[in-house]
Amino acid sequence: MTLTRRDLIAGAGAAGFVAALPMAAWSQGRGTALQMPPLLDATSSGAFELVARTGVTDFLGRAPSSTWGFNDQTFLGPILRLGTDQTVNASVINNLPEPFALHWHGLLVPGSADGGPHLPISPSKTWTVDLNINQPPATLWYHSHTHLRTADHVQKGLAGGIHLTDGRDDARGLPSDYGIDDLTLIIQDRRFDRGGRMVYDPGVHDEMMGFTGNVILVNGQAGRVAAVPRGIIRLRLLNGSNARVYDLASRAGKSLHLIATDSGFLDRPRALDSLRLAPGERAEVLVDLTNGRDDVLVSGANQSVAMMGGGGMMGRGGTMGSAPQERFDILPLRVDTSLAVRIDRLPESIGATMPDLDTRNAVRRDFSLQTGMGGMMVRGRSFHSINGHSFEMNRLNFTAKRGTTEIWTIDGQMMGHPFHIHGAMFQVLSENGGPVSPRNLGWKDTVLVDGRAQIAVRFDQAASAEKPFMFHCHILEHEDGGMMGQFNVV
Ligand code: C2O
Ligand code: CU
Ligand code: CU
Repeated sequence: MTLTRRDLIAGAGAAGFVAALPMAAWSQGRGTALQMPPLLDATSSGAFELVARTGVTDFLGRAPSSTWGFNDQTFLGPILRLGTDQTVNASVINNLPEPFALHWHGLLVPGSADGGPHLPISPSKTWTVDLNINQPPATLWYHSHTHLRTADHVQKGLAGGIHLTDGRDDARGLPSDYGIDDLTLIIQDRRFDRGGRMVYDPGVHDEMMGFTGNVILVNGQAGRVAAVPRGIIRLRLLNGSNARVYDLASRAGKSLHLIATDSGFLDRPRALDSLRLAPGERAEVLVDLTNGRDDVLVSGANQSVAMMGGGGMMGRGGTMGSAPQERFDILPLRVDTSLAVRIDRLPESIGATMPDLDTRNAVRRDFSLQTGMGGMMVRGRSFHSINGHSFEMNRLNFTAKRGTTEIWTIDGQMMGHPFHIHGAMFQVLSENGGPVSPRNLGWKDTVLVDGRAQIAVRFDQAASAEKPFMFHCHILEHEDGGMMGQFNVV
């Protein structure tokens, strides 16, 4: 007997993690292939257009959900391929019934081009902006950054990936064949009701701890299988979830060879047994599939997940479990020998420069991320804050000096908080007073603060008091709930 996805979902408890696809099905060579988002390559045209639109998506094959997307997609948008040294003219058109702002997360551009909450686009209007790109290759993303509405918008689909490329990946010995050996995985958990409809109905617990789901979507798809060549594959991992932290690993126990963090490549690959990835963060890893065996990208549960997850996890092979320690599947990787192998050896070096900022005269700032206690609500959101202040549109927290480096010490209360800064890259100096974990050694724009983190931030982009940069927790319910501040750079 073969279990169908329908059987599995019907068998899942309301709070349980809905299984994507039983292991037996994909290992027999079946299962629907994962699709990459369409690629929108602006490297030669120097221009792109994103049209935000409403749509209907049937994620689980059982019921339509009303969703938002860009261009031809009813959920999420295309991958934008942009050059690392290029001016790109962006047009963002709002065909939605309400305003939204679109932020380029990780792009180093001035506050006036950053797409934060001070740059909303009204319905039927177009925002046109020149993006002057000059930064290292990296995997970035774009998403709604609308005042008080970011969590709702992103979960509805207003997000997509960005590849910043200098065209030199072949010289680095890295897989670069889009969708073949170079896969982009936008990982998001979403909550589905028993009828198979996606719901976003945050209760007080969700506002406090962040909203987690019961189905894993990869690129907006559930229960898919990635067909990959029998060689070295590159996974560009993007945690686009509202709140869930993943501990990614290979089920077969293979290393994930970390080659890039948020803001770009490392000097050389670092072999990791597992990779923790918090909302907003990206990482690129190589996986060696030269032995020809199938594998599964899984996530182990971790402290943050255990604290946030209201229910059980998706168990191995699609069975349900309630123990938060259980692993759950993200994506089966099925070796397809008909796909050409381009890279069959791990590169020894990637050649990028690791962060080593001069902090001798650094200005120091301390930030304490605070979660409001149950029941405290402001504008329908829990009352979260930084240093005792909830975000206000017309309150500037401080001014940074352009061309300087600052040392920030960030303390997080109650749970892990992915801390993100706009318009800057940073170096993690220490975590909980100790050494930096291997996954945080490269250039970052978001770091999971689980206790205390100290970072050195370099400010090279200007931002006015009217179009300032944001810094915030990337758990989107925390961000909308006020765990955000803003600064200008002069
Ligand atoms: Cu990815 Cu301020 O956001
Ligand atoms: Cu950002
Ligand atoms: Cu937070």
